[in-house]
Amino acid sequence: MHDFHYHDGTLHCEGVNLTDLAIQHGTPLYVYSANTILEHYRRLSSALSDLDHHIAFAVKANSNLSILKLLNDEGADFDIVSGGELFRVIRAGGTAKKCTFAGVGKTREEIEYSLNEGIYCFNVESEAELRFINKISNELNVIAPVAIRVNPNVDAKTHKYISTGKSENKFGIDFEFIEGLYETASKELKNLELRGLQMHIGSQLSEVKPFVEAVQRVAPLAQKLKQKHDIKFFSIGGGIGIAYEDALASGKDSWWQENDQNNTPLTIEEYASELVPILAPLGLKIMLEPGRLIVGNAGILISEILYKKVGTAKTFAIADAGMGDLIRPALYQGHHEIVPIQNTSNENETVDIVGPICESGDFFAQDRELPKLEEGEMIGMLSSGAYGFVMASNYNSRTLPAEVLVSDKTHKLIRKRQTYEDLINGEDL
Ligand code: LLP
Repeated sequence: MHDFHYHDGTLHCEGVNLTDLAIQHGTPLYVYSANTILEHYRRLSSALSDLDHHIAFAVKANSNLSILKLLNDEGADFDIVSGGELFRVIRAGGTAKKCTFAGVGKTREEIEYSLNEGIYCFNVESEAELRFINKISNELNVIAPVAIRVNPNVDAKTHKYISTGKSENKFGIDFEFIEGLYETASKELKNLELRGLQMHIGSQLSEVKPFVEAVQRVAPLAQKLKQKHDIKFFSIGGGIGIAYEDALASGKDSWWQENDQNNTPLTIEEYASELVPILAPLGLKIMLEPGRLIVGNAGILISEILYKKVGTAKTFAIADAGMGDLIRPALYQGHHEIVPIQNTSNENETVDIVGPICESGDFFAQDRELPKLEEGEMIGMLSSGAYGFVMASNYNSRTLPAEVLVSDKTHKLIRKRQTYEDLINGEDL
């Protein structure tokens, strides 16, 4: 489901004309649809209505304050991976009580900050970290709520950089050690409360099988830990994949739900119908940590074609956005559908869409057949709402793009474009 449609040949986000927005705010420009974000959240929540469930939005996917506020107002919890993300959640109107804190390298400063704010739970990723949290809690004379992240050793069948549930990945603790560690913690580590069990096998999963395999493997363990240690929740992580291809090509309103060959075959409903029967009998609170599913298809990156260059081997369309604005193609060979904002051309052309950055990896598409683009035209990189702006950098001393949130016929600038002054802020001669 998404809210990007052509009206009279111009791409709109909900009721807002994207050409107008790009002229008003300049390019490169991230635009998000509030309605799409809320729809995804609500659809997931309603598919899980038979469970005592909590949806903790993975802040790493999109941490703009206004997006966090939108989800906070809707009742979402948050999955965070740094003190900075906790700070953002609080600034957006949320509380630490709504946050679970994951990540393999939590620092003393982050642990103390989270404890002082009253974090709901730390998802612990090593025995050393478990002991460190206990030590800090002892010093502060508090009890730290913890869950241990189990690595179920299941192949998520996704890109190797975003696969996390195999023993060779740095994440979580091997399945075999978990029961022993809960025993040790309950006997020796007096400043901990064993509140839950967590897992996350990877991101952008396009089939339900690995989720089922992992949950089937870990559910009996969760049951045992509930009986022995009275844990309260089982978090099954995030990872539900979205469609990156054929986003608008089909012209369907709800291409995302259609099970098209080129789209992800995994729907929210399939995910829920396979997992709920395994999870419900546990009688535990079930937590999820979706990021991409909620915001991925809700965002577009708009860029202007600055120049065309016809070479002997290739035709290049050089955009004003680059890998510093959206790094997914360069880093994960990620595919983003590229569409003209003004749909005027009847002719197609095979082009490379590249950015201005001094790297050959700075491209959005290679040898892709697209409607013929002219200099000065605007294009949209679809499905850029997750892991888009949050991974942007100032490489080549380029300013970060602006972000806009659309809701129905209105829009709001939710992050200003950086200035040259912003670039050197904090530096000293
Ligand atoms: N929970 C944990 C513990 C995670 O590590 C992640 C993502 C999530 C939840 C959310 O996963 P999601 O539902 O969004 O798939 N930058 C990469 C994706 C990195 C994912 C990292 N962990 C990309 O652009 O594809």
